[in-house]
Amino acid sequence: MNNALDDFDRWVRTDFVELNTRLEEAYFAAGKQIERGVAELEALKERLALEGAELVRRAGPADAAPRDLDARYELLGSVGLYLGACRRHEVEGPQAAAWPLANFLASSLGVAPRFVFAHQALFNQAVGDRFRTFTSLEDERNFIVYNGLCVLAYQRTAAALRRIATLGVSSPLAAYLLREAHAGLGDVLDFSKTLSKNLDVDRFFLNIRPYFKSYRVGVAEYRGANAGDFAAINEIDVLLGLCSPNDPFYQAVLAEKYPYMPPEDQSLLRAAVLAEPLLDAFLRETATGSVTPQLRENTELFLAVCRRHGAASAYHHHRLVAPFLQAPAAHAPQEDHDDLTSSGPPLDVVVAHLGRLVDLRSAKARADAFGARASLDGLRDALAGGRS
Ligand code: HEM
Repeated sequence: MNNALDDFDRWVRTDFVELNTRLEEAYFAAGKQIERGVAELEALKERLALEGAELVRRAGPADAAPRDLDARYELLGSVGLYLGACRRHEVEGPQAAAWPLANFLASSLGVAPRFVFAHQALFNQAVGDRFRTFTSLEDERNFIVYNGLCVLAYQRTAAALRRIATLGVSSPLAAYLLREAHAGLGDVLDFSKTLSKNLDVDRFFLNIRPYFKSYRVGVAEYRGANAGDFAAINEIDVLLGLCSPNDPFYQAVLAEKYPYMPPEDQSLLRAAVLAEPLLDAFLRETATGSVTPQLRENTELFLAVCRRHGAASAYHHHRLVAPFLQAPAAHAPQEDHDDLTSSGPPLDVVVAHLGRLVDLRSAKARADAFGARASLDGLRDALAGGRS
């Protein structure tokens, strides 16, 4: 790292955190998402915006960007933390100094020029047990840690499922991988439960969520961050066969997400949509009439993995989105309703969209095409009818 980048990094890890935390404590004490027009707080906001602008300007694109791709992506995250904080405190102006560096890094990586959840959780070097955060609030740390653990557990699941293609669904090695996938999704559920127990609803709503809003970089507005911008969840959807890359609804989900994922996730997702879904492979093998003991065991494991994927998705919907976003939003002043969601549409539209994903992952029978209910029933029938 050059000296100017070192200085910027030091600031992001120290003064930046302190300024945000002081502002958050003041907002929280007032019971509001933001305080406007209070001289002392306006001075803190201005200091944050100007100090960051000066440091980013000195670290400018010409000599700044590290050659290593992970380090470049991480730097985009740090610049994004600064831009996200300016947006959160509704500061306009000085942060334009950071746009050229954000755009320069993003265009060389093929991603959106803003911070995303992967920057907070996965491309964020810890120093002395602290990684970069907006604030020093314990709730922010918990939120990032348990979300990050869920992402790692989803990635563990996807890595196991990905390997079955070269083994075949009746292989004894596939049984091991399906157990691994099942355990990974069990971890997703456990980490999600811990998050829902540890996170304070008001802190999340007033002091953490506002940093994930959409923000402008140059002439374009980029939608907000959410914990779903990683490939593994969608790899699991399509590798299991619960969601189809031929379903127009699901195609839109994937297409929208690519620029908000890390570069290597983009390649993983492209590969996943070309793979044969495991559901199709199980249907093909069980249709031959003879269901061997290994094929039976693997099919039962596969069905258990599908059920657990649906359960984890339903937990997100009913035990995270509902209490931490929908419930407090219902009591928030009307002026705060404009940007409650990271993707932009009103909250009820986003919740309906998430509900449709839950239904697909839980293989609920619905009128829309492309659900897996009928195929899963067919697979169960094949198990019931097949000789062992
Ligand atoms: C308090 C905790 C959480 C809340 C309130 C929450 C809320 C949301 C919301 C509102 C969206 C939709 C964003 C939009 O389109 O505007 C979303 C998407 C998503 N979130 Fe969360 N989330 C939480 C935690 C988590 C955790 C722990 C995970 C696990 C990795 C996760 C995974 C996802 C995924 C994968 C998506 C994309 C949609 C999908 O594929 O289902 N979220 N979340």
